[in-house]
Amino acid sequence: MAERLRTLGYTVELQPFPVTRFEDRGSALSAGELAPNVQVLMNSAAGQVSGRLVHVGLGRTTDLEGQDLRGTIALIERGEITFGEKTANVAAAGALGAVIYNREPGSFQGAIQELAAIPVVAISQQDGQALIELLAAQPLDAELQVDASVVESTSHNVVATLDRPGEARVVLGAHYDSVEAGPGANDNASGTATVLELARVLPAQQLPYDLAFVLFGAEEIGLVGSRQYVAGLTPQQREHVVAMLNFDMVGVGERPLVGGSDDLVELAQAQAQEQGLEVGELGSALDGRSDHGSFLEAGIPAVFFHRGDDPRYHTAEDQAQYVAATALDQAGELALALLEQVAEVAPE
Ligand code: BES
Ligand code: ZN
Repeated sequence: MAERLRTLGYTVELQPFPVTRFEDRGSALSAGELAPNVQVLMNSAAGQVSGRLVHVGLGRTTDLEGQDLRGTIALIERGEITFGEKTANVAAAGALGAVIYNREPGSFQGAIQELAAIPVVAISQQDGQALIELLAAQPLDAELQVDASVVESTSHNVVATLDRPGEARVVLGAHYDSVEAGPGANDNASGTATVLELARVLPAQQLPYDLAFVLFGAEEIGLVGSRQYVAGLTPQQREHVVAMLNFDMVGVGERPLVGGSDDLVELAQAQAQEQGLEVGELGSALDGRSDHGSFLEAGIPAVFFHRGDDPRYHTAEDQAQYVAATALDQAGELALALLEQVAEVAPE
């Protein structure tokens, strides 16, 4: 990305910031003949433990009264109290490990607020039921292995600016990171590519404000890059940002969708109509789910370019073959039209 922006003639700044993530290097559970798939809970302890598997219901203190769990692995139902409380309760009663089964079909991802004293994993409801059935017939020994830990590293925002006379600035942004499960072609190489293409065509447009092109890191672990970017602006710089345009998942789906600040959404809608493009609207419920949220939180007007539900979202199937070039084109054209409108209403 930096290379591409440099080729386009920009001076590029890499903005480093620290990130913390929980890395699972391989974890497993076996009990009798069964070896259910496990998902380690964030902040689980690491280690290999074995012992009698004991079903302890929801794992509340009342469920454990009078039970000696020393040397056992606790099988716990999800719900009612936090994962942290369940884990602390069974650990206090002597359990060496905890297995939490879902209370709806499928497995789940979860996090414990503070580092747990024992290994803790999630399994699906079906696997939980299968274990409970086996336990009803006979005692079961289980082995739980967790190789996971908190890893500190550094991510970067990639920032290129186009300086123009006047004080106002528009930020065009997209996150470039993806989830571990998949390659992230739609989420969010699509938005990244759109921003890079806009960086190519925008120098030819006469606009009365500066432009900053920002590719954000670490969006998928909590909008970390965009929060960092906003936090790094001086109060004055913050005031000068008249709009932030965020592109996230613009390559798959029926039609373009826009959300965010009412004024910008209205302008975008009006422009779309003029182009004969049908554009849907996103509710504010999505504002916390992508990087424009970091700008809105800081009081900066922002608009979210998106394209609706992607059945391959956050899966290994989120591949380039499903991303439509025409969809990226529509997002880019819509953004260009909006930028012209912003020029009309932007303060000098
Ligand atoms: N691109 C998604 C957000 C998204 C998905 C918006 C589907 C609209 C429809 C984004 O990369 C993401 O996955 N965000 C997380 C939240 C974030 C704060 C970690 C999410 O939505 O779970
Ligand atoms: Zn995304």
